[in-house]
Amino acid sequence: MDEALALAARGRGATSPNPMVGAVVTVGGRTVGRGYHARAGAPHAEVVALEEAGESARGGRLYCTLEPCCHTGRTGPCVERVVQAGLREVVVAVEDPNPRVNGEGLTYLREHGVAVSVGLRRAEATRLNEAFFTVQRLARPFVTIKAAVSLDSCIAKAPGQRTALTGPESSIHAHGVRASVDAIAVGSETVCIDDPLLTARGVTRSRRLVRVLFDTRMRTPPTSRVLRTLDAGPVVVITTEAAVEAWPTRVVALKAAGATIEALPTRDPAAAMSLLLAYDVCDILVEGGAVLHRSIWAAGVVDRVRLYVAPVTLGPGAVPWMPGGEISMAALGGGASQSLGDDVLLEADVQRVD
Ligand SMILES: NC(=O)c1ccc[n+]([C@@H]2O[C@H](COP(=O)([O-])OP(=O)(O)OC[C@H]3O[C@@H](n4cnc5c(N)ncnc54)[C@H](OP(=O)(O)O)[C@@H]3O)[C@@H](O)[C@H]2O)c1
Repeated sequence: MDEALALAARGRGATSPNPMVGAVVTVGGRTVGRGYHARAGAPHAEVVALEEAGESARGGRLYCTLEPCCHTGRTGPCVERVVQAGLREVVVAVEDPNPRVNGEGLTYLREHGVAVSVGLRRAEATRLNEAFFTVQRLARPFVTIKAAVSLDSCIAKAPGQRTALTGPESSIHAHGVRASVDAIAVGSETVCIDDPLLTARGVTRSRRLVRVLFDTRMRTPPTSRVLRTLDAGPVVVITTEAAVEAWPTRVVALKAAGATIEALPTRDPAAAMSLLLAYDVCDILVEGGAVLHRSIWAAGVVDRVRLYVAPVTLGPGAVPWMPGGEISMAALGGGASQSLGDDVLLEADVQRVD
């Protein structure tokens, strides 16, 4: 199962809206087939592994990081292939919560004489697909807020000032994370001040990144760099119906520059996140600034907090990240830290009771 998990992880950043899945076929303790789901629409991991194993799979055992599917989507049901291959046993790490599977795959296998066990490396398999599980459970993407902060918890030297805080090691790490998510989001103030590209640089990425701008006054300049790099991925501007009505010429200019405008009835970050599922966004990194972070935190749709802490103090007049400590430690769990050059990376998950 460890090998199946490692195989599954090779699909990171490429499989949404599908999960990452890995599979290994063994016969008498010898591996005869390996597979993983490379991208949405590509063959499922089990099918790849069974194809590699061929006739030698007969009487063998399949290790699979997720319950094999029993429905016909873009590819046929995997459970039928498993039965046809003559496997004796299937070991599954975790059930597929997709309502079209949800235990049905396991039932099908048992009814066709295949021994099934579930739960080996369950925690690891669940974490691997935390984005997919969040979508299934909460009908919204997995949301990480990320910021570079000073020791006094500020994100910029002064309002309106672009401030580079962290070192090259943090930058390499941050671009690696960008390569693995489906989308990056920022607020309109960050677009106006930083004019960021919101691309994953220095890393390999097979899918285009969705760039999301939260902008309820249509302030995004049509000439902004994010709109001049549409090859890197689409740009979705999340706004309100009132804004579209109030600034029609800005809407026309942004559309002409290649942006897709999504107007919601109200400024509702939770609804915005759910809307992004239509763009196959299951895993989103919200890079700031502070106003957007606070609003998303208050809406209760943050799953992970990632802070790159730089060894500098910005002092009075700087832009605070979370004034008043809106993110309480009590809400966070499973924290970890790591040195990145002179910086420290802090990561913690939000504890949910739902
Ligand atoms: N250190 C870091 O990691 C980091 C990261 C990013 C930015 N920055 C810095 O942070 C500063 C900008 O950050 P900021 O906090 O002032 O602004 P911001 O979060 O980038 O943008 C805030 C703006 O987003 C718009 N918005 C649209 N929908 C929203 C929603 N649902 N919730 C909240 N805001 C929404 C609002 O403007 P409208 O009313 O016009 O829509 C709001 O004023 C810059 O100095 C930038 O350099 C630092």
